[in-house]
Amino acid sequence: MGHDLDDAGLPEVTREPAEAVEAYLRGFLDAIDLPESLLDAIRYALLDGGKRLRPVLAWWSSAAAGGPGEASVPAGAALELIHAFSLVHDDLPAMDDDDLRRGRPTLHRHAGEAMAILAGDAMTVLAFRVLSDGCPSPDLSRALIAELAGASCGMIGGQVFDTLGGFSDEKPAADRLETIHRSKTGALIRAACRMGCICGCSAQGRIDDALVASLTRFGEAIGLMFQIIDDLLDVEQTCEQVGKATGKDARAGKLTYPVLFGVAASRERVKELEHEALGSIEDLGPGADPLRELCRYLARRNR
Ligand code: IPE
Ligand code: IPE
Ligand code: MG
Ligand code: MG
Ligand code: MG
Repeated sequence: MGHDLDDAGLPEVTREPAEAVEAYLRGFLDAIDLPESLLDAIRYALLDGGKRLRPVLAWWSSAAAGGPGEASVPAGAALELIHAFSLVHDDLPAMDDDDLRRGRPTLHRHAGEAMAILAGDAMTVLAFRVLSDGCPSPDLSRALIAELAGASCGMIGGQVFDTLGGFSDEKPAADRLETIHRSKTGALIRAACRMGCICGCSAQGRIDDALVASLTRFGEAIGLMFQIIDDLLDVEQTCEQVGKATGKDARAGKLTYPVLFGVAASRERVKELEHEALGSIEDLGPGADPLRELCRYLARRNR
């Protein structure tokens, strides 16, 4: 499948949304009254790095709903704040204990553990401030806050199971694994699609429930797929390629797709999920083509 990819291997459709969200976040942080040291730590973890996939998905989900991509920018910024918080805390010594993120030292390595914890705390709160202050209507604000709160709880719950376990003894390993991945990573990706769709619908004055349902199924399939690929990258890629330590999951005793099923079966599962995701939006018109392209890219990404 041919793709128009930039230097970092990202499809061209990611460029405009990623730049818009980066600019929005930069301006938002410049206007916040917090200690400069904390703002510097937040900028370090949040800006100039990352694929920005959640805002990109929100933008094209808004477009698929017939709205402007720009309408999704506050939602995308809020998603990226929660995502960056999740990465900063995921990397802490008490969690995955990682030294490298996005090709540079993790925040706790750069600014110390206390600052990393506090920056994560602040980014969580700021995500909701973006949505309370940055939406064109109170109804939209309320809907997006509910979506993001639910998804953030899902992500945190997934991190609990991933890090500390706690499943009932009867739950088979395959079910545990799917639950972890659908929550720790899938929840925010699903929310990105739903929130974008809600922004696009709202810009036209009505919520199309069938469309939200289609994009929810799309987001669920690509969300699980995203973490399976992340597991595969840990096994198959170099640290230089992905900008974070690789070969760690098995050593750390993580339950992952390649650990439980092997690489070949994990690749098969990715193909099934790609098919499922594309099927869930097959009735949408050409407005959903960027989502189709992103789905194909996400099934093949190597960073
Ligand atoms: C990494 O997410 C953590 C997971 C949820 C798998 P990304 O691969 O989206 O990380 P960045 O934002 O591009 O660094
Ligand atoms: C992370 O999963 C999920 C999060 C909520 C951050 P991983 O622990 O596999 O993510 P990486 O590999 O460190 O980016
Ligand atoms: Mg982790
Ligand atoms: Mg990790
Ligand atoms: Mg990983």
